[in-house]
Amino acid sequence: MRGLPVTVTNEPLIERGAARVHVDDKAMINARADVNQLLPLKYQWAWDKYLAGCANHWMPTEVSMQADIALWRSPDGLTEDERFAIKRNLGFFATSESLVANNIVLAVYRHLTNPECRQYLLRQAFEEAVHTHTFEYICESLGLDEGELFNMYREVPSITDKAAWALDYTQHLEDPTFQTGTPENDQAFLRDLVAFYVVFEGMWFYTGFAQILSLGRRNKMVGIAEQYQYILRDESIHLNFGIDSINQIKIENPHLWTEEFQAEIRTMLGEACELEVAYGRDTMPNGLLGLNSGLCEQYMHFITNRRCAQLGLGPVFGPTENPFPWMSEAMDLKKEKNFFETRVTEYASGSSLDWD
Ligand SMILES: [Fe+2]
Ligand SMILES: [Fe+2]
Repeated sequence: MRGLPVTVTNEPLIERGAARVHVDDKAMINARADVNQLLPLKYQWAWDKYLAGCANHWMPTEVSMQADIALWRSPDGLTEDERFAIKRNLGFFATSESLVANNIVLAVYRHLTNPECRQYLLRQAFEEAVHTHTFEYICESLGLDEGELFNMYREVPSITDKAAWALDYTQHLEDPTFQTGTPENDQAFLRDLVAFYVVFEGMWFYTGFAQILSLGRRNKMVGIAEQYQYILRDESIHLNFGIDSINQIKIENPHLWTEEFQAEIRTMLGEACELEVAYGRDTMPNGLLGLNSGLCEQYMHFITNRRCAQLGLGPVFGPTENPFPWMSEAMDLKKEKNFFETRVTEYASGSSLDWD
């Protein structure tokens, strides 16, 4: 039995003495070039995101949870509405990070046939593990009921609805017999990229970010707020990688981006927005100081239109103003400046190693 070749789906075995990889042979999907050869780079944007992700490295355990623990234990530290929103918020993220990670590893990685994109996916997969670790760390620090938190995606309808909607898009791509290469399957792959990169990471995390960052602005749960700020920084690169990937696939395969398909994607974003609005109502039935489900609905309309524009689609909603301009501020921050100015950590490697 020795020496049997191992075949990896979608990838040919080594072709001895084949012509060298030319940059023009590289492609986002259905590539002819060997996926094991990183250079020559074709997509500088993918490599740049890999470098940016590495430069943003962080671990949840570096963030002090002392103030959060004291506040959580104090009977008057938080209102019941705040506690309820925080728990649902954590419950949504606790499993969502794993859903996203599984989609990358089991669906996206197989079908994105470009080595620099895969290099980024490997980095992203690790970042999703760091994010899942964050929720484990918060759960442990605050002494939360892990059964309650990690089962919310099965037990809280507004969370289940979102998870089920997204899983539908990843499920058949995870089927080992699924292959890209036909317009129908290539469109299925694009739908998956939209569902996870644009909707999950680019829309559904944003009500949650707004809730926690809003508490942080009021000096509540500052440790979690700092962790969310790092997650938001990672997620904005994930989202942009997804947008760039989808747009590059469109350029290379214009036949996939039909009028009908564009209409379908806009419908997907509209549905996703409705699910997020329902989640906002569910997590904040009475509203919180400075934040309520009505404002979150407006924010989600704003975000949905923005995502449409990034994909080159017309808006789903009429012109909508961003009700949380401070969110853009939190997002646009360079890593040197912390939103809450509690700590600055720089990671560097190699000869420029420089710890603060
Ligand atoms: Fe994440
Ligand atoms: Fe992500």
